[in-house]
Amino acid sequence: MTDDLQAFYGRWARLYDRIARFPGVGAWRAAAADALALEPGDTVLEMGCGTGANLPYLRERVGPEGQVIGIDLTAGMLDVARERVERRGWKNVSLIRADASRPPIAASAVDHAIGEGTNGKGIDAVLASFLSGMFADPAPVIEEWCSLLGPGGRICLLDATRSADRRALPLDMTFRAFVVASTPPTWQLRYDDPPWRALEARVESAHDAVRRCCGTYGADRFALGFVRLTYGVVE
Ligand SMILES: C[S@@+](CC[C@H](N)C(=O)[O-])C[C@H]1O[C@@H](n2cnc3c(N)ncnc32)[C@H](O)[C@@H]1O
Repeated sequence: MTDDLQAFYGRWARLYDRIARFPGVGAWRAAAADALALEPGDTVLEMGCGTGANLPYLRERVGPEGQVIGIDLTAGMLDVARERVERRGWKNVSLIRADASRPPIAASAVDHAIGEGTNGKGIDAVLASFLSGMFADPAPVIEEWCSLLGPGGRICLLDATRSADRRALPLDMTFRAFVVASTPPTWQLRYDDPPWRALEARVESAHDAVRRCCGTYGADRFALGFVRLTYGVVE
C-alpha cells in the first residue's frame, strides 16, 4: 500500500466509516460473514479491516468464545475500529497494524502474534472486503492467505468492481467516478491506465485465486453486479 493511500484513508477514516455502514452495505457484509460458515469458538482473521464495519458480523458468528483478528495498515482507520471495540466492550477482538500482503501471523505462531490466543487451533477463516483491488498483484497474496489457512480453512472476498450487467450500464460512469474519487491522487484528469480498469483486473485476479485454492467455492453478486463475492474452502 502506498504512502498516498495510507494518508488518504487516514484523512477520511471517519467519513469512510459512515459510508461503510450505509444501509444496504450491511446485507453484503452479512452475506460475506455467512459465506465463511463460522461457528462459535472459531478464529477469523480480517485483512484490511479498516474502521471495523465487518467486526459485528464476524463477532456475532464466532461468539464470545471465538476470536476476531483485524489487520490494517492505516493507523487512522484502526483508531476508529479500536473505538468501536472499546465502546462495545468486545474482549475477543484484536487489532493489529500490519501489511496484509505479508501478515505477521504464521499459522503456528498465531497465539504469539496476537498475544491473546486462538484456542490453540489456528485460524479458521479469512475475510477481505474492498481490499483486493489495492494489491498490485493480488494472486500471490491470496495464495499466501490460503496457505496460512491450510486445508479446510474458509476464505471470502467481497469487492466492488465494474459490472457486466446491462442494467448497470447507466451507472458505469458513476462507478468510474467513485473509483477515481477513492484512488489518490484523486484530481488526475487523464490516465494511461485508468484506475477502474486496474481495479477490475485486480479483483478478477484475486477472485480467480480463491477459486484455484479452493476445492469447493461459490460466488454471488450484489448491487446490479457492482459488488462481487467469492468464497470457498481451501483444499
Ligand atoms: C476500502 S477500505 C476497506 C475497509 C474494510 N475492509 C471495509 O470493508 O470497510 C481498504 C482498507 O484496506 C487497508 N489496506 C490497504 N492495503 C493494505 C495492506 N496491504 N495491508 C493492510 N491493510 C491494507 C486500508 O488501510 C483500508 O483501511
